[in-house]
Amino acid sequence: MITGGASGIGKALARRFVDDGARVAVLDVDREGLTALQNTLPGLEVAAEADVSDRARVAEVFADLDRLWGGVDTLFNNAGVMRHASFLEADAAGWERVLAVNLTGAFHVAQEAARRMDAGDGGVIVNVSSVSGMVGMPDYVSYNVSKAGLIEFTKTLALELGPKIRVNAICPGFVHTPLIDREIASPEDQAAMAARLPAGRMAHPDEIAALGAYLASNAAAFITGQAFVIDGGETAGGLAS
Ligand SMILES: NC(=O)c1ccc[n+]([C@@H]2O[C@H](COP(=O)([O-])OP(=O)(O)OC[C@H]3O[C@@H](n4cnc5c(N)ncnc54)[C@H](O)[C@@H]3O)[C@@H](O)[C@H]2O)c1
Repeated sequence: MITGGASGIGKALARRFVDDGARVAVLDVDREGLTALQNTLPGLEVAAEADVSDRARVAEVFADLDRLWGGVDTLFNNAGVMRHASFLEADAAGWERVLAVNLTGAFHVAQEAARRMDAGDGGVIVNVSSVSGMVGMPDYVSYNVSKAGLIEFTKTLALELGPKIRVNAICPGFVHTPLIDREIASPEDQAAMAARLPAGRMAHPDEIAALGAYLASNAAAFITGQAFVIDGGETAGGLAS
């Protein structure tokens, strides 16, 4: 189950897991994006239109998966939104929406999934956080706080849900997705930003999906409660802000 699977990193995860032979469900608010994904990824079994912040709707999707699959064994909490505003200008509605989707949405989806994993054969949860949850970043206070929250969410769940369920977080730096194209519109600005990274470029979403596939696999059976940075070296020095 991949939330926010209609675009960017979530789409790359969906493609990776379908290619690896998994039965994949994506959950996303974007109906058109879901339809486009179904058209390009015929192996995708479920494309559910849902808002992760709507607990009743999330529960319906999991009930559908119970009927179809008898449960879920791997969850990516990947759906996320971002609001750009200085702290002095930020409005409370924006703050609440970002936390409702990025953090409370992850709570809803993880709880629905974990109850099933705990009652069944166990499973894996991977939360897509960000380096923005590890260092200060101006003008994205709600986003940064939501991503920092996901790291603590990861650690606490790992303690409560082990050994049956492993819980980890991925903390990407800049990944070239529609989210970045919305936030940094001009190609020149994107290139200037990428040039400052030790890697000299943004990540491709497939590179994040590769880490996700590893963390979900049995090769990572001894890894839980951790946050994995994949940022092209961004946070190795002082480039973050
Ligand atoms: N792109 C980056 O540089 C980057 C870096 C660090 C972390 N991340 C995180 O990775 C995740 C994916 O980001 P992306 O870059 O692929 O962004 P994206 O905007 O391309 O994709 C996000 C997806 O989430 C869906 N979504 C948004 N709100 C939702 C909701 N309420 N319920 C269900 N689905 C919802 C969107 O419709 C979209 O399909 C996000 O959590 C983001 O914060 C991205």
